[in-house]
Amino acid sequence: MNTHETISTFLDFYREHGHEISPSQSLLPPHGDDSVLFTTSGMHHLTPHLLGRPHPLGRRLSSVQRCLRTTDLDEVGDPTHLTVFEMLGSWSLGDYGGGQSLRWGHRLLREGFGLPPESLYVTVFGGDDQTGPDVESLHTWQDLGVPVELLGKDNWWSNGPTGPCGPDSEIFVWTGSGVPRDTPSTNPDWVEVWNHVMMRFERLPDGSLVPLPRLSVDTGMGLERLLTVLQGKDSVYETDVFEPWQQTVPTLWPLDTREHRVVVDHLRSGIVVIGDGVQPSNTGRGYVLRRLLRRVLTILWSGNHPLLDELPLDLYIHTLDHFGQSQTGTGTGIGTRTDTSTSVTPENIRHVILDEQRRFLQMLDRGHKVLSRRPRGQVLDGPTLRFLHETHGLPPEIVEVLSL
Ligand code: GLY
Repeated sequence: MNTHETISTFLDFYREHGHEISPSQSLLPPHGDDSVLFTTSGMHHLTPHLLGRPHPLGRRLSSVQRCLRTTDLDEVGDPTHLTVFEMLGSWSLGDYGGGQSLRWGHRLLREGFGLPPESLYVTVFGGDDQTGPDVESLHTWQDLGVPVELLGKDNWWSNGPTGPCGPDSEIFVWTGSGVPRDTPSTNPDWVEVWNHVMMRFERLPDGSLVPLPRLSVDTGMGLERLLTVLQGKDSVYETDVFEPWQQTVPTLWPLDTREHRVVVDHLRSGIVVIGDGVQPSNTGRGYVLRRLLRRVLTILWSGNHPLLDELPLDLYIHTLDHFGQSQTGTGTGIGTRTDTSTSVTPENIRHVILDEQRRFLQMLDRGHKVLSRRPRGQVLDGPTLRFLHETHGLPPEIVEVLSL
């Protein structure tokens, strides 16, 4: 199943079960929400509705939402982690309960995506000192004949220290060779694909839990990870989502596998983040963007490779189109973004990226001069790095590049 078919299968299934499709929103959280820098999960824009406020589209929703997670930054380069990814999601806003959500999820994986019964294993919240085990989920899976592992805090989901939260049930697919064996917590060949969260509580700033006025269900399934499983690939980068990048990048830069993955991931994320109206800067979202681009530039510069002037405009266009950010394209998802505050074209984005590259090179040049005047034998320890930053405006990551 290619990306387009996978998304259609998911959305059609939920549409047939009475869900309205909510368009993908910006990577920037809604106005007034400063709890996170970026949208990190499909439910983010729905937080007030999970807490009880009625949603204009009704009580059953589904979407494909672009997300950015910087918590995973250091893991990018392995087969599964991405900074920007898409999340397939479904929600019951005070409508059906967790058992129904799990039954539909199971049917979609089995009948819609054709996963064999023995390839599935699930985990369920087994209780802790604040709340009891999630008995409804346990019984539902037992009824469906799917093996269950009961776990603790790994099966509790929240989007931050406060707000809606609850026990979750995670669905794993066997990706190893031979007959499936062991359990999700004991064998990494069980890969988590889908999380169903029973939003029963709100966590208050003092850490206490209060029951929500109505139970909601929030599910999230990483699209690229699902595609990796459905397409039988060893990494997300080998799925059709990345095809144009996989074809072009090796012809521009001879990188090893890890470098290649970081470059592809970060450039793609850089394009999407700028597409949502962020500019590089030294604080907040702009700093996340700057770090992504500088990491790419560092890899290319240290390997004596040509820099980003080489990146064809087609890749910018493909990426914006894929994420539904393009002014003309339809995207592989569900159409255009809903925030129209920016009108960023592929050419504008290239301009921002090349401008950042110019700053990076200027900084290297300046850093080179400063470091060459440094007393012989001076160690680049914390205080020295702080001095170079505060007095000469040289960020530690630039000093690091120069000392490679
Ligand atoms: N909102 C559920 C998840 O991101 O796993």
